[in-house]
Amino acid sequence: MNKANYGIDAPGVIRNLFLASAVGFIVPIIFPLIRIGPVNIDTSGFIWMGIACGAMGVWMLLYSKYGKLLHRNRILNLIEWKGSERVLDVGTGRGLLMIGAAKKLTTGMATGIDIWNAEDLTQNKMENTLSNAQLEGVGDRVEVKNENVIEMKFPDNSFDVVISNLCLHNIYNIADRKKACAEIARVLVTGGTAIISDYKHMKEYRKNFDQLGLQTKLQPPSYLTTFPPLGILVVKK
Ligand SMILES: C[S@@+](CC[C@H](N)C(=O)[O-])C[C@H]1O[C@@H](n2cnc3c(N)ncnc32)[C@H](O)[C@@H]1O
Repeated sequence: MNKANYGIDAPGVIRNLFLASAVGFIVPIIFPLIRIGPVNIDTSGFIWMGIACGAMGVWMLLYSKYGKLLHRNRILNLIEWKGSERVLDVGTGRGLLMIGAAKKLTTGMATGIDIWNAEDLTQNKMENTLSNAQLEGVGDRVEVKNENVIEMKFPDNSFDVVISNLCLHNIYNIADRKKACAEIARVLVTGGTAIISDYKHMKEYRKNFDQLGLQTKLQPPSYLTTFPPLGILVVKK
């Protein structure tokens, strides 16, 4: 294998969408009419569920294969790079943003942290992230750590840029998501920029950073390149 592979996001969700799609197509063929007591159900309408779930599954796959590279460019182009930045990628997975950022660096360093949840990304392992960095020629400009964003061990003001894609929604309770935002604000230098991209809770993250006194701007999702549509929150400390 000689090409970086950034994995398929939420593989279980994609599998379930394809299963629901199959049900939507197969049920009307095998059971065109279902009788429950006195009620007859015409199942031909299930096909619409099949089409909708199949389309969402394909769209999610296309995001993971192609869209995420375009989305990474959109995020990284929001930073005016000098090359000397210390960058943190929160929930780096297989290194998508960390490696993209490292390519912008000359003397700087990109750090990726993760807890390697298998259900969030296929083959989500630190060794695959490091191997991607080698394949992309930035092995000497990255470091990868086992860290949970809720309680990072980095000192205050450690990073000029913090970036994160599709990570924070995986934290299931609101108090922990608030802690995650506070941790991101803590490790960011004054004058630094954080960019958070996700498909839900964007207004909640914004409120968290606003309450900490940081400046925020929410950008709308790109519906062409991302599915589910990913918004972008730009935070300045
Ligand atoms: C859908 S993947 C996205 C990976 C990568 N950012 C990308 O865009 O390809 C979400 C990642 O966030 C990580 N993650 C989830 N909760 C986390 C937490 N509390 N701290 C650090 N990483 C976390 C998961 O292990 C997973 O690698």
